[in-house]
Amino acid sequence: MSAGRLPRQPAWSTVKAIMITLVVNGKSHTLDVDPTTPLLWVIRDYVGLNGTKFGCGIAQCGACTVHLNGSPTRSCVTPAQAAVGQEITTIEGINDGADVLHPVQQAWIDEQVPQCGYCQSGQIMSAAALLERNPAPTDVEIDKAMAGIICRCGTYPRIRKGIKRAARAINAQNVEQAGDG
Ligand code: FES
Ligand code: FES
Repeated sequence: MSAGRLPRQPAWSTVKAIMITLVVNGKSHTLDVDPTTPLLWVIRDYVGLNGTKFGCGIAQCGACTVHLNGSPTRSCVTPAQAAVGQEITTIEGINDGADVLHPVQQAWIDEQVPQCGYCQSGQIMSAAALLERNPAPTDVEIDKAMAGIICRCGTYPRIRKGIKRAARAINAQNVEQAGDG
């Protein structure tokens, strides 16, 4: 368990800081924080994980996407207190602490998906959540699930290829595991 506190209450905050415990990537963090602080800032500034990005701050771009109990969630508009008692997963924890990358991360490398990279944490988190609930998505399903995760570099064709590649890898893994069982 770790404890953390920013040096001062943010200037905009009018709510008293309290102690809350958040579980991020399987690790418990007890933090002295204004509970209305957006989860994005708690993850970045208190927990110290800066792979999750700030894009718009108003739920319009998806750069800040994390998983709450496996569901893709825009952390810029989620108060920290709403995440208490939930499993928070960030890009740093998506491979579940394993030595190998998550299939989506590996596919992103194999397909050379990123350009500037800024949006890609949100893209990967959204793609991973999609494949968790639908391991063989169609183009239409991919476009629907990824709509609203904005890439200013226009990497959308490679994102779609990356998702299909990751889907093949996940399905191959599942077949292998079924054979082992
Ligand atoms: S920063 Fe959260 S949706 Fe844009
Ligand atoms: S890779 Fe540059 S914004 Fe998406």
